[in-house]
Amino acid sequence: SKDQYILAIETSCDETAVAIVRNETELVTNIVASQIESHKRFGGVVPEIASRHHIEQMTITLEEALQESGLTIDDMDAITVTEGPGLVGALLVGVNAAKSIAFAKQKPLVGVHHIAGHIYANRLEKEFEFPLLALVVSGGHTELVLMREHGSFEIIGETRDDAAGEAYDKVARTLKLPYPGGPQIDQLAQDGEETIDFPRAWLEDGSYDFSFSGLKSAVINRLHKAKQKDEFLKPEDIAASFQASVVEVLSTKAFRAAEEYGVKQMIVAGGVAANKGLRAALHEKFKSSETELLIPPLHLCTDNAAMIAAAGAVAYNQGHRSGWELNANPGLDL
Ligand code: KG4
Ligand code: ZN
Repeated sequence: SKDQYILAIETSCDETAVAIVRNETELVTNIVASQIESHKRFGGVVPEIASRHHIEQMTITLEEALQESGLTIDDMDAITVTEGPGLVGALLVGVNAAKSIAFAKQKPLVGVHHIAGHIYANRLEKEFEFPLLALVVSGGHTELVLMREHGSFEIIGETRDDAAGEAYDKVARTLKLPYPGGPQIDQLAQDGEETIDFPRAWLEDGSYDFSFSGLKSAVINRLHKAKQKDEFLKPEDIAASFQASVVEVLSTKAFRAAEEYGVKQMIVAGGVAANKGLRAALHEKFKSSETELLIPPLHLCTDNAAMIAAAGAVAYNQGHRSGWELNANPGLDL
């Protein structure tokens, strides 16, 4: 039978991305135009600048994706797009581009949840086996999501304050490291030792929720105290100590949940899935477990459109369609 092609657009934060996926799981083209350099000097993503860059990059990125794939819009079975969550002005650029293309070429339109995308990034590497659990760790999210079948997402635990990536970025800013801070801390931590015993937020017995704002404050307070006493703390050791706390809580709760729910697979998703410490700790924990651990390659961990195409293809084949009233929804629920 004929191959199915899904085009996806993702503009929820600071990457303008377009991808094409064939038959749900085969990645054809994955173009990501990053704006990180433009936001660096502000120490974080500036929403207005992000929107402006998306407008400048949208058509160029789309043309690049089509050119690289040798396909045209006419070859596409559906146009999928991140409708939320994210920065509203950034999301709007992608949503309007997708609507314009779909309307002009009379193609089906499907809005996709950004986190469903992060989870489905893994399906470009390995077929899902249900039930599965996904540990979603990004700049905006920290969640344990249970999936009993395609397109069904049950949140069994989530952060009560900061997301894991957000904590990384805030601690990095305190250490005067450039944005985004996660990879910088990860790198420093490789050369440091866990000399400071930072708190672990386990919360109530049996809870799969997370909390990282107390840890972030503990790091800031410890640095402040050191400054007052003229005490020198190696940035490498601060990074290693902070990372040890984040990684221990994330990996322990993920493992416990995998055991309790008896899942076939444990999937890690989102930008923080790129973290070397987290990857190593999870591999160690799941080494002799019945649960198969899946962590996407680095280029599929951070924001991209391939993941939106992967989730969008399943939604499309399940019969989901968006109308022309599709709008950016910064607070969209999974
Ligand atoms: O998924 P993502 O690209 O965007 C969101 O949807 O938020 O995640 C970005 C987040 C940032 O907070 C960044 O600092 C963090 O992922 N991150 C990392 C690493 N690489 C990216 N955090 C820790 N270690 C890393 N290696
Ligand atoms: Zn993301």
